[in-house]
Amino acid sequence: MPVVTCIEDLRRMAERRVAKAIFDYVSRGSYDELTLRANRDELEALKLRQRVAIDVDQRSTRSALAGQEVAMPVGIAPVGLTGLNWANGEMLGARAAEKFGIPFTLSTMSICSIEDVASAVTRPFWFQLYVFRDRGFAASLIDRAKAAKCSALMLTLDLQIQGQRHRDLKNGLTVPPRLTLANFVDALCKPAWTFNVLQSKRKSFGNLEGQIKGADNLLTLSQWIAGQFDPTLSWKDVAWVKERWGGKLILKGILDAEDAKIAASTGADALVVSNHGGRQLDGTVSSIRALPEVVDAVGGRAEVYFDGGVRSGQDVLKALALGARGVFIGKAFAWALGAMGEQGVSLALEIIRKELDVSMALCGLRDVKDASPAILRRG
Ligand code: GLV
Repeated sequence: MPVVTCIEDLRRMAERRVAKAIFDYVSRGSYDELTLRANRDELEALKLRQRVAIDVDQRSTRSALAGQEVAMPVGIAPVGLTGLNWANGEMLGARAAEKFGIPFTLSTMSICSIEDVASAVTRPFWFQLYVFRDRGFAASLIDRAKAAKCSALMLTLDLQIQGQRHRDLKNGLTVPPRLTLANFVDALCKPAWTFNVLQSKRKSFGNLEGQIKGADNLLTLSQWIAGQFDPTLSWKDVAWVKERWGGKLILKGILDAEDAKIAASTGADALVVSNHGGRQLDGTVSSIRALPEVVDAVGGRAEVYFDGGVRSGQDVLKALALGARGVFIGKAFAWALGAMGEQGVSLALEIIRKELDVSMALCGLRDVKDASPAILRRG
């Protein structure tokens, strides 16, 4: 077993272990992947400000997100097909998050269902909602999340239409996974994954099976999404979701100050600055570049969360410095799970927490809640 010291180690392990079509689904972006790369490049370009001779003996990474105490201001982002990286992956991820003391967000497009995940944890998790053309079904998902006692609903606004991910088409990504000649050879080279995932009873969309026509058929993911997701989604629908849900509401996919103002005026509790991990509008700005303008436009009316390219505690600290209250990890989580299952997710969270703690200290910061632009260099 290699000595795992950073998220990159887990990414490499996942690349070796997980079927190529699934690894690529997690790791790649849309079109030319300009935005996928910008998310990383611009986080890397930000410089932390080293400060010395400050007593940093007593430190805290504790915070609160959407009214919930957290061990660090980090959450697990909703990731589709998580349970195809490792059997029962959503249940394992939720368990690791619960043990660590941070929120887990279950994707609508998960393999384990809302009810599966509820049965695996003792504390509430969060549920991410996509709005379907079939509004009755969208309503039933909201009701199921309520019945499962989810403590926040994260409504995704940036995927009414799917940006094309070339790799998914070239790999013939289907749900459940279909064995074509190319991926049969790949599966043979990944026996641990094949045994673990293909033997599992959960291989299709757990929340949709038996509920939506075609959800358990062999279809490419992009075709299926094009048929089911509602391109008419508008702010009026946000009000409908808010009313029906009645609990903490988080709006995901805000990247523009104008949208941020509207989002804040809906009375949502939080919003997530996100370009969907560089998987949607290619050529748009990185999340980290959009963050300050969104924070400014929201003006404290809602909590502002951030995702997009986070691979370390240093990245978390940079986003907090620019005004994010919470930071979400998607790819880093899925790689950790694909590399080592639940243990991998726990390890990834511990790695990020330690990196965050040490980096805070070296910036002269004792309490993570005090992160501000003052810990970044201007030039
Ligand atoms: C969303 O479901 C995605 O594939 O990015």
